[in-house]
Amino acid sequence: MKTFVILISGRGSNMQAVLDAALPGRCAAVISNRPQAAGLAWAAARGVATVVVDHRRFPDRADFDAALAAEIDKHAPDLVILAGFMRVLGDDFVRRFAGRLLNVHPSLLPAFPGLHTHAAVLAAGVKIHGATVHFVTPCLDAGPIVIQAAVPVLADDSAEVLAARVLAQEHVIYVTAVRWFLEGRLTLVDGRVRVAGESAAAAVLLSPGLG
Ligand code: GAR
Repeated sequence: MKTFVILISGRGSNMQAVLDAALPGRCAAVISNRPQAAGLAWAAARGVATVVVDHRRFPDRADFDAALAAEIDKHAPDLVILAGFMRVLGDDFVRRFAGRLLNVHPSLLPAFPGLHTHAAVLAAGVKIHGATVHFVTPCLDAGPIVIQAAVPVLADDSAEVLAARVLAQEHVIYVTAVRWFLEGRLTLVDGRVRVAGESAAAAVLLSPGLG
């Protein structure tokens, strides 16, 4: 059976969605860069091994990345799942785990990379927002897209309301992407993701009110 590790920095609701799903794989550990991450207690209560690699204990990013990579390597995972992991990872780290490093981002990439996506979406006045699961490459919030979910932006949305609408879809698409990976169905063709046995439409989720 394939194994995976999940990296978190905070609440860990995407982690919970993955651990709650019946997936053909085993979570070897949940690793956080923040000792107070709420998701750690949740994972521990579920009997999952938890580890903290506190970024503040390292003089620079390269040292932190090396310690994090060493911790991950102890578990020899097939897949590394970034689930609200809020540290930028360096090129060496990303290359080391290339092809087995997934991230969820709260926007329809390549639109709205970076932080505060929901506020940026409202400020821009766009009518469709969403979330993306992608393979991680050295460019921030970029990399081959596995699956996206779209949600409407409603006239009186606040950033919080919009974030909650997007988050619900993140949980759905992340579980789907992880399942596809663990089933060995994801391949990269010319830098684009193909899902064996699925039409391209399977990688697009439209929430009610769209399409
Ligand atoms: C999620 O919305 C995730 O997309 C975002 O942080 C939140 C974590 O929530 N990640 C990023 O912005 C990464 N660039 P969670 O801890 O409840 O899963």
